[in-house]
Amino acid sequence: MNKIYIVGIGAGDPDYILPIAKRKIDSARVLIGGRRSLETFAKSDQKTFAITGNLDAVLEFIRQEIDRNEIVVMVSGDPGFYSLLPLLRKHFENLETIPGISSMQLAFARLNLPWHDARLISFHGRTPKDLEPGKMLGILTDSEYNSKTISKILIDRGWNSGTRIAILSRLSYPDELIIETNLQTAANSEPISHGILIVGY
Ligand SMILES: C[S@@+](CC[C@H](N)C(=O)[O-])C[C@H]1O[C@@H](n2cnc3c(N)ncnc32)[C@H](O)[C@@H]1O
Repeated sequence: MNKIYIVGIGAGDPDYILPIAKRKIDSARVLIGGRRSLETFAKSDQKTFAITGNLDAVLEFIRQEIDRNEIVVMVSGDPGFYSLLPLLRKHFENLETIPGISSMQLAFARLNLPWHDARLISFHGRTPKDLEPGKMLGILTDSEYNSKTISKILIDRGWNSGTRIAILSRLSYPDELIIETNLQTAANSEPISHGILIVGY
């Protein structure tokens, strides 16, 4: 049976993709990914399918193609960290995961911080429980849950308003942004979305 490769493409800039992942993408006959990833990596002789949010359509496309071809699915960062991997595991068996550098790893690296003691959570399309003060947090954000709204939530949940927070967005791109401040200032400032927050470091 043909395989489905789920390939991490790193935080964004192609410098952050592993050589084995790039080789897999280059040799794919069928390539699935977000629009921006396809613009960056797809070649004209590859059959492509853009992930736009309709995940049922992605699953259907894979079902149609899998008898004829191997399939490569590109995901941002690392496949094991809040990606399509759980969905693909639920529907298909013949998977092979090729890791990538997560935006979370890159965020901790930018601050020269180890991440083995951090609690890693996602506000990307979900609201985590148990947000009480404690371990250093690494947080994925989206547009609704951004640097401003999450800082307010953490203060409401008992975090000291002076707790340090780093806001990192567009990591690896030329317009990468890193702001180090505290929860109160972040709660009173313009929101920054789709990035990483590191809290309590
Ligand atoms: C669906 S999650 C995917 C996470 C991905 N699997 C990883 O390991 O980075 C998407 C979220 O990852 C974060 N993200 C992805 N690329 C990023 C980047 N270049 N800079 C900052 N955050 C990024 C943002 O929080 C975004 O909302």
